Formats: sequence, C-alpha cells, structure tokens
Amino acid sequence: MNKISIIGAGMTGSTAAHWLAERELADLVLVDVVEGMPQGKGLDMAEAMPIIGKDVEIVGSNDYAATKGSDIIIITAGLPRKPGMSRDDLLSANAEIVGKAAAETLKHSPDAIYIVLTNPLDTMAYLTMKLTGLPRERVVGQAGILDSARMRAFVAMETGVSVENIDCYVLGGHGDEMVPLTRHSNIAGVPLRDYLPADRLEAIVNRTRKGGGEIVNLLKTGSAFYAPSAAVAQMAEAILKDKHLIVPCAAYMNGEYGLSDMFFGVPVQLGRKGMERIIEYKFDDEEKAMFEKSAASVKETHEALKKLVKI
Ligand code: APR
Repeated sequence: MNKISIIGAGMTGSTAAHWLAERELADLVLVDVVEGMPQGKGLDMAEAMPIIGKDVEIVGSNDYAATKGSDIIIITAGLPRKPGMSRDDLLSANAEIVGKAAAETLKHSPDAIYIVLTNPLDTMAYLTMKLTGLPRERVVGQAGILDSARMRAFVAMETGVSVENIDCYVLGGHGDEMVPLTRHSNIAGVPLRDYLPADRLEAIVNRTRKGGGEIVNLLKTGSAFYAPSAAVAQMAEAILKDKHLIVPCAAYMNGEYGLSDMFFGVPVQLGRKGMERIIEYKFDDEEKAMFEKSAASVKETHEALKKLVKI
C-alpha cells in the first residue's frame, strides 16, 4: 500500500485525508502540533472505513517519525492571517512552520514527492524545494486546480451544463492577479467566449479571481477547505497512479514562459515521478500582459521571503 502523510491536520489537511481515504489510494498519516487532535481525527476516520468499505490505515501523530517511508507528503500546516498581522509576519511564521515540516519529513521519507498548500502557496513551495534541495520534479504546489475548479463551477451554475463538460484553465499566482484563460476554456469543445455573452463571462472571471475571499466572507472564521483538499487528492492520485495528468499546478520555473527561479501556476503533467513536464501555451498580447503582472507579484513575495529566511 502506498503511504501519504499530511502535515497540518486542520480543515484542509483532515478533509484531504477524507477524500483520499474514499479513493483507497494509500495509508494515511496526519501530523499536527496540537496534542491529541490528529490522533482523534485519525481514529475517527479509521472507524469510518468499515462503513464505506475501504481498507485504509489512518493514524494521527504529533511525531514526524510516524511519516516514515511516505510516497507523498502534503503540507497544509500553517497559521491563518490574523487581524493586525502584516503580510511579512504571516510569511515568516508560515515559512518557519513549512520549513520545519519539509526538513523533518524528508529525514523519514527521502524519496517522497511534496505537495504544498500552505499560503502564500507559490512561495511556500519555493521554500520547500530550496530547503530540501530536492529536484523540481518532486515539489508541486496546489492552487491552479482549485482556481480552475471554481471557474468551472461558476460556468456550470450559469449554463446548467454538467461540470464534466466544462474545462477552464486558470494559471498564474494564487491571488487576485491570477490568470483565467477564457480563450482556452470551453464547454464540450465550444470556446467559452462563443457560449456566453461577454458580460456574463467577465462576471465569472471576476468571481473566480475573488473566489477565496467569497468563502472567507461567508465562513467568517477560516477559509475554503473542501475544494482545496479535493484538488490535493486529485494531484496525489495522478502521481500514485502515474496518470500523466495535465492540470494547472505551481511548479518551479526553469526558463519556461520566460520565468526562472520561482514557483508559478502553469499546466503541468503529473505522474509517478512527480512534475514530469510543464506545458507551454501560446499567449496573445492580453494574456501575456496578465501573466507577466501575476508573475511580478509572485516574484515580489519570493523576494520578501529571501529577506526573511536564508535559502
Ligand atoms: N506543525 C504541524 N502543524 C501545524 C504547525 C506545525 N508547526 N503549526 C500549525 N499547524 C497546524 C495547526 O495546528 C492547524 O491544525 O496547521 C493546521 C492548519 O489548519 P487550519 O488552521 O484549519 O487551516 P486550513 O484551513 O486547513 O488551511 C491550511 O492551507 O489553503 C491553505 O491558506 C491555507 O495556509 C492555509 C493552509
């Protein structure tokens, strides 16, 4: 049986375990700093397995030793931004948490592939790769699947067509500057721009950009976790089943799209080796401008990290 360890057993981490257990893909380990919580959630989930008929071992721990021999490490550990906390305060707090999670897990699972979720996502994935010294194939960040799924859901709500017929591609950084590619998005092969009036499409694009904030405003305490964790489960499945699945993820750029030494949301192919390749779209001028603006904003956070942490 494969093994997946999830660091951070909060809302996203534990819900990722739930989606993964349903898929019977791997035994699961939940690790968190809070005493008893990962053990309690692990046990509760293990007790659900007879009901759903899945033979998956699920345990929780406060000790990284429990992650030994993992095929995949998912990092969701982190702090939410609290009132009065600056962007840099959050960056340095989460960099410390993610840095420790990456270093400790690597000791026990030298062959693992890392999926990073903790925000600011592109920068935390960069930190993970730099601190562990892993090749870029073995570190990916989750964001693009989520942003694209939000856009797909909004198109389905607007049109009444099955979500399965709707393909949307949202690239770039995971923030307001994300890059929804309406020209490449379609409903059963029909370009979105031909299917929807321009004003409706623009409204969907704007809602997608603000998708994370919309959930935060509704929940009031906490942020989205069902869709982000479902995205992680899809990534883990593509890796463990060696599917060569093309999905938008944050990947380390090595000259692709004219970008280097940074993580950024682009279409990647996921298989058993991790991030197998980056697919390069041909952009028109408008798309290129959006992409460059988003890249500049992500690069800024990378630079802020480099001032805070020696990597
Ligand atoms: N080691 C392990 N776990 C930690 C550590 C640490 N050093 N520090 C914090 N945690 C745990 C917390 O105890 C908490 O259970 O990380 C968990 C985070 O869970 P939530 O607060 O529920 O946050 P969640 O909604 O799951 O989001 C986690 O993913 O999508 C991103 O922006 C989101 O960065 C955030 C992360």
